[in-house]
Amino acid sequence: MDTRPNSAEARDIRYHMHAYTNARKHQETGPLVIEKGDGVYVEDTAGNRYIEAMAGLWSVAVGFSEKRLVNAATKQMSKLPFYHDFGSKAHAPLIDLAEKLVQMAPVPMSKAYFTNSGSEANDTAIKMIWYRSNALGEHARKKIISRTRGYHGVTIASASLTGLPNNHLSFDLPIANILHTSTPHHWRDAQPGESEEQFSTRLAADLENLILAEGPETIAAFIGEPIMGAGGVIVPPAGYWEKIQTVLSKYGILLVADEVICGFGRTGEMFGSQTFNIKPDIIVLSKQISSSYLPISALLINDSVFEPIADESDRIGTFGHGFTGGGHPVAAAVALENIKLIEERDLVGNARKVGAHLQAKLRRLASHPLVGEVRGVGLIAAVELVADKASKAPWGKPAALGTLVNGFLQQNGVISRNMGDAIAFCPPLIITEAQIDTLVDAFERSLDAALPQVHPQG
Ligand SMILES: Cc1ncc(COP(=O)(O)O)c(C=O)c1O
Repeated sequence: MDTRPNSAEARDIRYHMHAYTNARKHQETGPLVIEKGDGVYVEDTAGNRYIEAMAGLWSVAVGFSEKRLVNAATKQMSKLPFYHDFGSKAHAPLIDLAEKLVQMAPVPMSKAYFTNSGSEANDTAIKMIWYRSNALGEHARKKIISRTRGYHGVTIASASLTGLPNNHLSFDLPIANILHTSTPHHWRDAQPGESEEQFSTRLAADLENLILAEGPETIAAFIGEPIMGAGGVIVPPAGYWEKIQTVLSKYGILLVADEVICGFGRTGEMFGSQTFNIKPDIIVLSKQISSSYLPISALLINDSVFEPIADESDRIGTFGHGFTGGGHPVAAAVALENIKLIEERDLVGNARKVGAHLQAKLRRLASHPLVGEVRGVGLIAAVELVADKASKAPWGKPAALGTLVNGFLQQNGVISRNMGDAIAFCPPLIITEAQIDTLVDAFERSLDAALPQVHPQG
């Protein structure tokens, strides 16, 4: 770290409080200051180049230097730099984007509604669901079921949906009316000898028991990511989504698919809902919608959601919800161009093909003494590290080994993220097989570098 008083690092420590960072420790370690991006690479101010194996925050599908997105933004910025959709106003990029999203949706959808972030979109989903229940006269139907280790954001309601301790501790969360059911993680949570199908059956029974205990007439919706991302890239076991949806249909409970990570090609299909045959009533989109070049998110809602809401807004006089920047014209123009690029360049096909290569290469590391489980689909994967393969025990405190290996990985030219002891890989969708080879080789060297510390006796 450059410790000179006027260095970027020193000024960062002095003036900037970071997201998702140990604020005290940061004062000693300082930041990694990233200066520029190029394809799947980013470069820091010291000139070190890294493969961005997380696509930023699971988001930069088209890479870090896509001129067509810059041009789309510049063109729209010059023509109409801001407008909104309050009070029946509209603008061309938003109408085009709404049409595009509804038409490309994996199940019949009625309308698109625009927000700025995944968290705002999930908060909006909750508000729409409550509003709809009231519109239907089902005033008791307000509870939303999420899952332990699910991730849905950080605003008060979306952090409540999130099922991770760091998002609740000392924030006085979760709020009322948010319930959590089991994580679909077969490797970690299955009973001895329990098959994936049997495990899924048990989780569906857990869900049904929760619904019955709470009273089915009080449950409005279930929300889930097709693949859990920030909870550790948890790929659902065989039969999981089918069995969960059977329970939801039985009790007339809405299904929200949080496609904020899986949407736009990540799993090798345009949407994770296609990969897992999910039939949602609401789809939440963000991140790869614009490759995060600008913030934008969207909800797609079907008629069973839209129609009662339309009636209620007519009764009250307005749907009293909206964000100043929601559906910003420049962000919408960038999103449209980004989706066009994903389609033109068949980045979904690339995620399938190069993703298969990533998955195969990582699975070759399964016999490494520090590897507990390798999991993933398409261009999203995680490797869960253990100190003891048989007992699946961590090395000391949970996350210690993940942090150690992630540090070596960065020294070896790859930026990843450890969610506890799971190292995640979610590179830009433009990545090539050769770049995957470089990435996985760096990961293997990082595992080998950690080995002597974990098993000093050899
Ligand atoms: C599945 C999922 N939903 C919601 C969010 C929240 O999005 P944002 O950080 O834009 O609020 C995230 C962010 O990582 C996410 O992965």
